[in-house]
Amino acid sequence: AKVHYHDFVIQATPVKRLCNTHSTITVNGMYPGPTLEVNNGDTLVVKVTNKARYNATIHWHGIRQLRTGWADGPEFVTQCPIRPGMTYTYRFTIQNQEGTLWWHAHSSWLRATVYGALIIHPKEGSSYPFPKPKRETAVLLGEWWDANPMDVVRQATLTGAAPNVSDAYTINGQPGDLYNCSSQDTVIVPIDAGETNLVRVINSALNQPLFFTIANHKFTVVGADASYLKPFTTSVIVLGPGQTTDVLIQGDQPPSRYYIAARAYASAPNAPFDNTTTTAILEYKSAPCPKKGVSVKPVMPPLPAFNDTNTVTAFTTKFRSPQKVQVPTEIDDSLFFTVGLGLNNCPPNFNSNQCQGPNGTRFTASMNNVSFVLPANFSLLQAHHQSIPGVFTTDFPANPPLKFDYTGNVSQSLWQPVPGTKLYKLKFGSKVQIVLQDTSIFTPENHPIHIHGYDFYIIAEGFGNFNPRTDTSKFNLVDPPLRNTIGVPVGGWAVIRFVADNPGVWIMHCHLDVHIAWGLAMAFLVENGVGELEALEAPPPDLPLC
Ligand code: C2O
Repeated sequence: AKVHYHDFVIQATPVKRLCNTHSTITVNGMYPGPTLEVNNGDTLVVKVTNKARYNATIHWHGIRQLRTGWADGPEFVTQCPIRPGMTYTYRFTIQNQEGTLWWHAHSSWLRATVYGALIIHPKEGSSYPFPKPKRETAVLLGEWWDANPMDVVRQATLTGAAPNVSDAYTINGQPGDLYNCSSQDTVIVPIDAGETNLVRVINSALNQPLFFTIANHKFTVVGADASYLKPFTTSVIVLGPGQTTDVLIQGDQPPSRYYIAARAYASAPNAPFDNTTTTAILEYKSAPCPKKGVSVKPVMPPLPAFNDTNTVTAFTTKFRSPQKVQVPTEIDDSLFFTVGLGLNNCPPNFNSNQCQGPNGTRFTASMNNVSFVLPANFSLLQAHHQSIPGVFTTDFPANPPLKFDYTGNVSQSLWQPVPGTKLYKLKFGSKVQIVLQDTSIFTPENHPIHIHGYDFYIIAEGFGNFNPRTDTSKFNLVDPPLRNTIGVPVGGWAVIRFVADNPGVWIMHCHLDVHIAWGLAMAFLVENGVGELEALEAPPPDLPLC
């Protein structure tokens, strides 16, 4: 196994998009940032220098970080932010993960422009469980604001209203030729005729699940979130923010140009969203050069309707692990978490400018009615490791404090989240099941829920309220897929299982960033097991303190 050293400099860089140049926070002047490529079993050492005017951290989305929680990256969870002018070196080993992951800033909305691909090739000497692709390409889907994203979220936090939606979606940082001033810079994705091509699709958008398709080409899905899948074919895929999907594409069409397109899967009825379409161009390497002055218009693919939940369900329910897997049974911690929005009444000391949510409220969000608040003076992991009192409590409820029809007509007065920094404690090795239940408070919505430090099996999903008497018959305990982010069906539920074999403090949150700002998160405190190999490592000497 190799050790890979990288330098990341977080800095303001002029970036021209949609006809204007913006001072944009990037890594090494690149947007998207550099692609990291490793083999399973390798070690990454990334020295991050913060030359921007914002606090920053980098999270390695989906990397298990076994015993190396100090390198996970979410600010105030596993470290204090890297202040402007400071550095921190992340050091971790990839253990039994292969496929596509990504890295991104984990501080406010900095990840809007601070992100990149993290590609894990098979262990040296081993190969893919599918035909070796001739060519591999990473496709990062993103979201672009004309305004500074940090100002967009600050404005939303001040007013209590929903933030402005983005001005464009992007493919590898470019909006594509359906937007103004974008056609010159539209991304070209090369493909080899007659060959198998591997495309690694990553949804790095801030707040939007996306449909993704390519004209006249079918996808064979072979992996997601750095776990292999039993291959299946489809012409459209959907990814929530945080999720990745690896697809094989055969170069079996007439050599020409085909549009690659992505646009919103907008599950929340009546909620505003960016309804534009981003494109790139799939170009056969053997294609005859277009004659001078003749532009060959690429073929445009059909895309599902914005609210086409049937297509989403048809896609996600095809996911299977390649073989029979060891799903934890005899559950130790059986948890039921509601995930959803909330509306807080305007507090008496607030003025009306600060309560611009629906009917003079402030938007909020919660799990089990607790709206997660990050600490300010310590990271949770540091407070845990050094037994610093008063930073968090461990009374996060295993069940909602109140039973009601979660997906029915819920009155606002019934359910107003309470802010808190509450963790749920897990013994090392505990077998955990979580029912994630969407609520229709303000609106039902497909929430991409991500857990740090773990992959989990998705053993069932469905619509309406989870019924513990009848829905257990839907559990797949044979070959469920392993992921790090689950799109909980809109107005529905999902059941996940994992073994708590990674000690530390791990945040679980909705990967729609505006929902993190509103508190749709909680954290697990996983205790050390016996012996050094089951214990969190010591913190690195350069760990940023608050
Ligand atoms: Cu992709 Cu908490 O992160």
